[in-house]
Amino acid sequence: MPTLSRILPAGGRSAVPIRMIREGEDFAARLDARQKAWAEANGFAGKAGGILVIPSKDGKPQLVLAGMGRDDAPSLAHGGLARKLPKGLYALEDNPDNPDADLFALGWLLSAYDFARYREEKPEPARLVCPKGARRDDVLNQAGAIWMARDLINTPVEDLGPAELAGQAAELAKSSGGRIKVVMGEELARQYPLVHAVGRGASDARQPRMIDLTWGDEDKPKLTLVGKGVCFDTGGLDLKPASGMILMKKDMGGAAAVLALARMVMTAALPVRLRVLVPAVENSVSGRSYRPSDIIRSRKGLSVEVGNTDAEGRLVLADALAAADEEAPDLLIDMATLTGAARVALGAEIAALFTRHDDLAAALARHAAKSDDPLWRLPLWEPYMAELDSPVADTGNIGNSGFGGAIIAALFLSRFVNPGTRWAHADQSGWNFRDRPGRPKGGEALAVRAIFAHLKETFA
Ligand code: BES
Ligand code: MN
Ligand code: ZN
Repeated sequence: MPTLSRILPAGGRSAVPIRMIREGEDFAARLDARQKAWAEANGFAGKAGGILVIPSKDGKPQLVLAGMGRDDAPSLAHGGLARKLPKGLYALEDNPDNPDADLFALGWLLSAYDFARYREEKPEPARLVCPKGARRDDVLNQAGAIWMARDLINTPVEDLGPAELAGQAAELAKSSGGRIKVVMGEELARQYPLVHAVGRGASDARQPRMIDLTWGDEDKPKLTLVGKGVCFDTGGLDLKPASGMILMKKDMGGAAAVLALARMVMTAALPVRLRVLVPAVENSVSGRSYRPSDIIRSRKGLSVEVGNTDAEGRLVLADALAAADEEAPDLLIDMATLTGAARVALGAEIAALFTRHDDLAAALARHAAKSDDPLWRLPLWEPYMAELDSPVADTGNIGNSGFGGAIIAALFLSRFVNPGTRWAHADQSGWNFRDRPGRPKGGEALAVRAIFAHLKETFA
């Protein structure tokens, strides 16, 4: 695979022009007779996603017509060109009603991604001269971070366990001028008992750890990101069936997403003091696995009765959120592939957002729409809190009705965060279940671009 900056060169000669066509517009008026005949013969009409490569007399591509349809919403939709056009160099023709240049370039790079690490065939994407008006540095920053997240998610747990995830975070810290601390073993059991309990069933080389990355000046506003780093989720002793386990290498999708977000923040040098907490574990089965009915004293002091070892994500996040909250951050965001129920509610293509702060929810929704990176708010519905009651501990880790699972999980997390803290929780699938422009099938960092846009607006 060519590097990102090679796929999006700043300039270039002899690029094939791409002309964006709105459905219903008289595009034929700007074509010569031969081009017009070719467009007609191929039935090109400017429909969304429609592409026509018009050859010159010698058979080489001369002009690309690309349909925009009638929808004007900002979107990654045109990025699909990177994989649909034959390899070569293209340039967006300068037209007044072109789509948003940033999203066009970003969509292109996000479409160009291919997880080819384990196979021989590595088809090359088409290349694009960075369109006029696009902020190339920002686009490369965001695309690079998302490629990284996808690689992390797509890599199977055999090659990306807790140790390797910590290694990747350390590399990111090093290349960005951050510091990293990794807590393991006895110290982990003392400081993050829930993380230790969930992860201790894994083999010796794959033991649980807390990744704690910091970056930036102490006197800047404190932004803390927490990501669920379950490198593989078997369900633990409450073992998942095969159909539920097959995709569980993606259960560190939240960790991948916050590392991507952190990379964006550090590369853009936002004036914040950033902290990233990633509890990295394998939820595994062995003689030392934690068990249903175990009662564990959490970092915050609340005792937790384990109703189901497959509700492990909220346990590891609880200790991480409690630690994050101790230094009263100005903004605290956690991201996690937390519940199947969030997928049932919204499908896999929309992240579920939970927050007590209406203005934060509204701002994120606005950025989600502008950046074609959807998230949708679900309520932290207090009356459901009673579902978490346990007769023997301060709280259980699962609800008792089987309903509203994404809300119950979010409510559980809320017990570990001070109500005054500006906190948002994103429950997202971490996966594209189908190929779409800008969103190739496989690992995905959902909601990250929307949140980054909000961070830029808030802190820059
Ligand atoms: N990692 C899963 C959630 C998940 C499942 C995300 C499928 C995306 C797709 C999580 O650890 C889990 O197993 N949650 C259980 C909770 C239940 C036991 C209360 C779930 O959602 O079924
Ligand atoms: Mn689970
Ligand atoms: Zn899980």
